[in-house]
Amino acid sequence: MTQELKTAIVTGGSKGIGAAIALRLARDGHAVVVNYARDEISANRVVAAIEGAGGKALAVKGDVAEPQCLTDLFDAAEKAFSPVSVLVNNAGIMRVGPVGAVSDADFDAQCAVNIGGTFRGLREASNRLADNGTIVSLSSSVVGLYQPAYGVYAATKAAVEAMTHVLAKELGARGITVNCVAPGPVETEFFMAGKPDAVVEKIRQMNPFNRLGTPEDIASAVAFLTGPDGRWISGQTLRANGGVI
Ligand SMILES: NC(=O)c1ccc[n+]([C@@H]2O[C@H](COP(=O)([O-])OP(=O)(O)OC[C@H]3O[C@@H](n4cnc5c(N)ncnc54)[C@H](OP(=O)(O)O)[C@@H]3O)[C@@H](O)[C@H]2O)c1
Repeated sequence: MTQELKTAIVTGGSKGIGAAIALRLARDGHAVVVNYARDEISANRVVAAIEGAGGKALAVKGDVAEPQCLTDLFDAAEKAFSPVSVLVNNAGIMRVGPVGAVSDADFDAQCAVNIGGTFRGLREASNRLADNGTIVSLSSSVVGLYQPAYGVYAATKAAVEAMTHVLAKELGARGITVNCVAPGPVETEFFMAGKPDAVVEKIRQMNPFNRLGTPEDIASAVAFLTGPDGRWISGQTLRANGGVI
């Protein structure tokens, strides 16, 4: 029997966690829209890897902080493939610093991408996602850690969790599951940027496995929620962090 090809959108799917999620969803039988903001070469590399393995994918440029972006991504997915059954709100940015030192620009940028981008993804999915579909949004385990320097970033992810839990109740009647995956430290460009080796080593030791997470660890958690075994999980935040909290 041929498996029906479903369609997924992964925002920020060109590298790091998003790229691993895009590759995994393709392996699990989805045609994937790989969204990126700037780095076309990385996005095309993900698409080529998916196509090379016999899957279907399309790279679509767009900044999730722009109001039209999520509408354009759904339009592109429907035109190239079929109605969207999985949305992964993965694109996110982090600007760390003590609350007293955060600039208005850094505050606004994190709100625009992390909260604004996710909100518009959730809104578009509310109106256009196929019945029995799945929405997963990336939060972060810093929401529960209350670590110095992560105040604004954690606040944006707390907002993502709040919207997710409410939307799960609003969409449940259509069989749509809505969840967050909240990684702990994962070895990506985003995480490594500007961190000295000693700091990375200390973070590595925060969890009982003494290692950083990998993008594939997080993609596995997303695959569980988007796959057949995750259908009874909704309105939850899955903390994929090796036991850091
Ligand atoms: N890494 C961690 O330790 C960690 C821990 C907890 C949570 N998270 C969350 O996991 C998600 C992915 O993180 P990551 O570490 O994989 O990040 P990353 O390596 O920096 O990759 C970010 C991806 O998002 C895209 N992107 C950035 N801003 C965008 C925008 N405004 N519109 C559309 N795409 C945008 C980037 O595309 P371009 O390269 O083209 O700009 C890239 O594909 C984020 O939501 C982050 O908050 C990460």
